[in-house]
Amino acid sequence: MAKKILVIHGPNLDLLGQREIDVYGKLTLDEINSSLSKLAKELQVEIEAIQFASEGDIVKKIGSVKKDGFSALVINPAAYTHYSVAIRDAVAAVSIPTIEVHLSNIYAREEFRHTSVIAGVASGQVSGFGLNSYLLGLRAAAELVK
Ligand code: DQA
Repeated sequence: MAKKILVIHGPNLDLLGQREIDVYGKLTLDEINSSLSKLAKELQVEIEAIQFASEGDIVKKIGSVKKDGFSALVINPAAYTHYSVAIRDAVAAVSIPTIEVHLSNIYAREEFRHTSVIAGVASGQVSGFGLNSYLLGLRAAAELVK
């Protein structure tokens, strides 16, 4: 049976396509999700992609990954990257392969974005490649659950 991979998009990523286009590009979240679905087929994995504005919803969703049958997580925690100990603890608690992704290169931006509290409990991080950050993240997740 195909392995299931969960993709979580954090706050404000529903605004992609209209939000700071010079930083995040023109693609909408729907377009990113379509590209992910296409790649998932190629990699013979199943994905569910979901966007949440609130930290609590993300924590709850991560908390039920095992019960919901997911083998890996690809997450763009957006602004929560930089301070959500609750999301970090949720990732640590479920201990499934987790890839942190960012459209922009967080290390080339404002100082407050240089810290990820998630990275230390993730399997790895992909940052700065736009859509390709997600696609590379999905490839890494699929490889880890093979
Ligand atoms: C982001 C980078 C974060 O610093 C920012 O808060 C986001 C998006 C990215 O994908 O580049 O909302 O995670």
